[in-house]
Amino acid sequence: MSKEQVLILGGGLMGLAIAHQLARRGQSVAVLSRRRNEAAGFVAAGMLAPHAEGLSGNLLRLGQLSLERIPRWVAQIEADSGLPCGLRTTGIVVPFKNEQERDQYPTAAYGEALDRQKLEQLLPGIAPAWTAGLLFAQDGQIDNRRQLMRALESACVDRGVHFQEGVEVLELLKQDGKLTGVRTRDSEGMLSTLECHRAVLCSGAWSAQLLPELPVFPVKGQMVSLQTPRGALRHVIFGPGTYMVPREDGLVVVGATSEPEAGFNEGLTPQGQQSLNQGIASLLPDAVNWPPMERWWGFRPCTPDEGPLLGESSIKGLWLACGHHRNGVLLAAISAELLAGVVLKTPLPGSEQELLEAFNWKRFSAESQIM
Ligand code: GLY
Repeated sequence: MSKEQVLILGGGLMGLAIAHQLARRGQSVAVLSRRRNEAAGFVAAGMLAPHAEGLSGNLLRLGQLSLERIPRWVAQIEADSGLPCGLRTTGIVVPFKNEQERDQYPTAAYGEALDRQKLEQLLPGIAPAWTAGLLFAQDGQIDNRRQLMRALESACVDRGVHFQEGVEVLELLKQDGKLTGVRTRDSEGMLSTLECHRAVLCSGAWSAQLLPELPVFPVKGQMVSLQTPRGALRHVIFGPGTYMVPREDGLVVVGATSEPEAGFNEGLTPQGQQSLNQGIASLLPDAVNWPPMERWWGFRPCTPDEGPLLGESSIKGLWLACGHHRNGVLLAAISAELLAGVVLKTPLPGSEQELLEAFNWKRFSAESQIM
């Protein structure tokens, strides 16, 4: 491993996206990945939904900036890999019980207001309790599980990114506040020390295990996919607590529970699956009869304000890209651009620099709480 190489600690969506952008800019990069399939990028529903999620403030700005960049980002990945990413601007519909709720939604100004008739036209079969809606035509989805992750990995390989799979980072090594290396364990239990002076921490929900001062914790989500009758659902439905994302292949991805109390407890639970079924019934009653195809779970990396940690850390030479909570797929494009800029010391436009500062981890540090 060369001293000049940038190490990416984590082979999930964020790690791959940053590795790819660094490699495109000529930087030598190595990705250390513990277990591919635990990455939130394989679990998420892939909604690109800053407006449907009702984000606000800097998180909305970050999400909108990322949404704008996604077509170009995807084009780069598809060109480098020769594989499709499954990007679709299907629009997302948020249903409401009444017009007042609709008009008070934080992002209502960005959507088209729908009455019951228009809502039914967009979502045939939607339950009668929903009498209003917002269509966010600019929001969409990407097939993260079956297409994006594979294409991004292949784009990284094409750009010369070096991968070490089955390698767990145990410890960050530093001297005088500067990163000097990492201690690792491979899948056979062999311990090693890798010298490195620049790294990006993208270890998802596990990030605080390497840097305990980071306020990142897991929020478990359970999901199910259903086989739909052809054309039965054309737009993403984003209901309170449950969403349904129709894929091109006829599956609908349904998510997700939100279980901070589960910690890192793995596995499906009957309660979790029941709550998904109730969510489906409350949105689209006919869909309770669609056959379930696959069930899975994962851990969102959350922070107390639900915004990511981006940019500098307390260790010189170590940068952060973690804590993206519900919005990792949406925010991967902008996070990769910001992190590539900061690691390579390329000046960023003022608005991006401002966002990078807004999402610095120090907003949670004891010092900034006192000020
Ligand atoms: N992005 C939706 C979720 O985390 O469930």
